[in-house]
Amino acid sequence: MTSLPVLTTSPRLAALPVTIANVGLSYDCATTESLLAGMLRLGRKGIPAGCVSGGCGVCKVRIVEGAVQSLGPISRAHVSSEEEANGYTLACRVAPTQAVCLEVAARLRKPFLGSATAVVQRPAS
Ligand code: FES
Repeated sequence: MTSLPVLTTSPRLAALPVTIANVGLSYDCATTESLLAGMLRLGRKGIPAGCVSGGCGVCKVRIVEGAVQSLGPISRAHVSSEEEANGYTLACRVAPTQAVCLEVAARLRKPFLGSATAVVQRPAS
């Protein structure tokens, strides 16, 4: 008599709450995915997203509460060692190990066009 294999379902990934303080958004992020990937997976916006691989720096955040672990190297071009010591990191390069509260630190640079001024030319009479 042969025994049937026992089928098991994969365990659910552990997820931890992430709060973006200066946007007022909260979402659950798996402990195996980056803070940015977790937000994007849910279709949320709050942390600016760019390359999603640590190269552009637009996802720079400051961890206000909680803890994260690195998923890869963090470029010193975007986060200095002093900034890192003060809680700054790249959201695409870290995963939560505790509930996290963060602030978006990077500023998007958009061209400022100023106010448009309409000039009406009247035909000469
Ligand atoms: S999205 Fe480019 S460094 Fe994180």
